[in-house]
Amino acid sequence: KVKINGFVFTDEAEAEQAKKEAHGIHYVEERADMHHPETVLEIYNKMVKQELFETAVGFTYLKELQEYLIQNPSINNSDILPISVTHPLIRHKITLLRKEDTSTNEFRKLVEEIAMLMGYEALSDLETQDITVKTPIEESVQPVISGKKLAVVPILRAGLGMVNGILALVPSARVGHIGLYRDPKTHEPHEYYCKLPDPIDQRQIVVVDPMLATGGSAIAAVDFIKKHGGQKIKFMSIIAAPEGVDALMKAHPDIQLYVGCLDRELNENAYICPGLGDAGDRIFGTK
Ligand code: PRP
Ligand code: URA
Repeated sequence: KVKINGFVFTDEAEAEQAKKEAHGIHYVEERADMHHPETVLEIYNKMVKQELFETAVGFTYLKELQEYLIQNPSINNSDILPISVTHPLIRHKITLLRKEDTSTNEFRKLVEEIAMLMGYEALSDLETQDITVKTPIEESVQPVISGKKLAVVPILRAGLGMVNGILALVPSARVGHIGLYRDPKTHEPHEYYCKLPDPIDQRQIVVVDPMLATGGSAIAAVDFIKKHGGQKIKFMSIIAAPEGVDALMKAHPDIQLYVGCLDRELNENAYICPGLGDAGDRIFGTK
């Protein structure tokens, strides 16, 4: 029996893994001195590489480091990587999503469920406010989510499929819409409808779109939100191409990007490979 961080392990392999993680987190906690930005970057890269963020503590910590790097652009923050939400349930559901014989109905449900699971992680730093509640025993001051401060902004059409997943977590969130379509030849985004909650400057904004391909739509959406005063922006995509991540992080290094899976590449038609095809068509059953 091995005891690590208060947990008892009987399986040797599991104990070894836990030891490694415990060591990594310990190392990180010991050395992450925010007065030494290079150290923060080094630790951030180490955590991303070792995927230490897969543990709850690691994930929260990685997010803190990423926030710090974003707020300090004097550090070389072009190295900031997206936070991959790599929970096995998310991986499993993304695999089902990819299958070409997954029905429209099932596809829609999966997109919503994945958005909820990713949202659970991405919103772990959501602001709370204290309220007084009366339990059957006594009065007590307890935290609740300041839900009105959240705005979910889907990029139409496919982003609409993710909205209910986030609203299941924060029902009182406001919802904005950004209508963009990609030109089939140039792959450039074209805007056709935009409406955001007003004012938006104090809200935590979560932009949702299942696909981040060239990054053109994501960049245009974030441009629009910033033009209207949006400041605290998270972007959630289920599948991303390296090209899109790179373009988005270069154009907007101050946002937090969450991806469910980072795929291999774009093909000549700017579709993600292996991807899942056209997300909008699969959600809405169009061609
Ligand atoms: C898809 C997808 C993204 C965009 C990604 O939308 O939902 O918004 O493409 O591509 P990009 O990163 O190269 O810009 P599409 O334009 O096909 O519209 P739709 O959702 O209405 O189908
Ligand atoms: N938009 C999609 O829906 N799928 C892709 O692979 C690329 C852009």
